[in-house]
Amino acid sequence: MGLGAFTKIVGDAGITVAKNLNIPVTTGNSYTVATALESAKRAASLMGHNLKTIQVAVIGATGSIGSVCALSLSRDVKNLILVGRNETKLNLLADRIMYETGLAAEVTSNVKKALRKSDLVITVTSALDTIIEPEDLKPGAVVCDVARPRDVSKRVVEERNDVLVIEGSIVEVPGDVKFNFNFGFPPKTAYACMAETMILALEGRLESYTLGRELTLRQVDEIHKLGQKHGFKLAGLRSFEKPISEEEINLIKQRVIIKVS
Ligand SMILES: NC(=O)c1ccc[n+]([C@@H]2O[C@H](COP(=O)([O-])OP(=O)(O)OC[C@H]3O[C@@H](n4cnc5c(N)ncnc54)[C@H](OP(=O)(O)O)[C@@H]3O)[C@@H](O)[C@H]2O)c1
Repeated sequence: MGLGAFTKIVGDAGITVAKNLNIPVTTGNSYTVATALESAKRAASLMGHNLKTIQVAVIGATGSIGSVCALSLSRDVKNLILVGRNETKLNLLADRIMYETGLAAEVTSNVKKALRKSDLVITVTSALDTIIEPEDLKPGAVVCDVARPRDVSKRVVEERNDVLVIEGSIVEVPGDVKFNFNFGFPPKTAYACMAETMILALEGRLESYTLGRELTLRQVDEIHKLGQKHGFKLAGLRSFEKPISEEEINLIKQRVIIKVS
């Protein structure tokens, strides 16, 4: 079973638990979105991209996480492509974005076409196989791969040293915390979805928070602010399970400059 299907089952189970037991439940998806977008914007800025001028794409835009990512980004960017498989759902989302922010987003079901012209890509599909290959990407592109399993092929990191692929949603937890569990991260770091539970507990919000498929921008913004208030922050940028430093990102940037000059 893919993590997409798993998160759906957990999300549905969360609603059942919240309805039938006196236990607050959250999927953690609001903080996942907030931190993925923060990572993507930081990576884009380090690569020298200006959100107001670059082409941005959300792949899997009609999904639960993708649609709230697209809505949030539409407040910051000027050129947005929504990529999905269902044209009706894509058009509904584009209409909503136009209504809420005045931005005219492009829609397409052609992933490759969207990738070839995009400088910043947030990819959040529930595809079981990779959908982003080395030949698809523009030099200098930044890709934030939130999907599990990954949307970006491992070949990208092997064959394209002029693009930056990051994984969003890994945060540094404040205080002298020991999880006594190996997430495969350095100490004091956790998935944002788990951190959402910690933030709610620290804030004394012992209530069910993110539940079901409909994520709201209000909750994404709120949990982001609460996370900052309690000292949670991005745990640096990571690419294919490893930390990536600003020096390494600068090298990627230099290769793009050499390629185009
Ligand atoms: N990193 C984390 O901490 C974290 C946390 C939660 C979830 N996730 C991951 O985030 C992803 C999205 O989750 P979700 O809950 O938003 O799922 P979702 O609501 O099911 O949305 C998935 C989206 O992907 C699209 N899609 C599926 N297969 C595709 C393909 N082959 N090509 C193009 N688009 C495709 C779907 O389009 P259709 O509408 O046409 O089916 C839909 O728009 C999953 O991979 C999940 O595991 C990661």
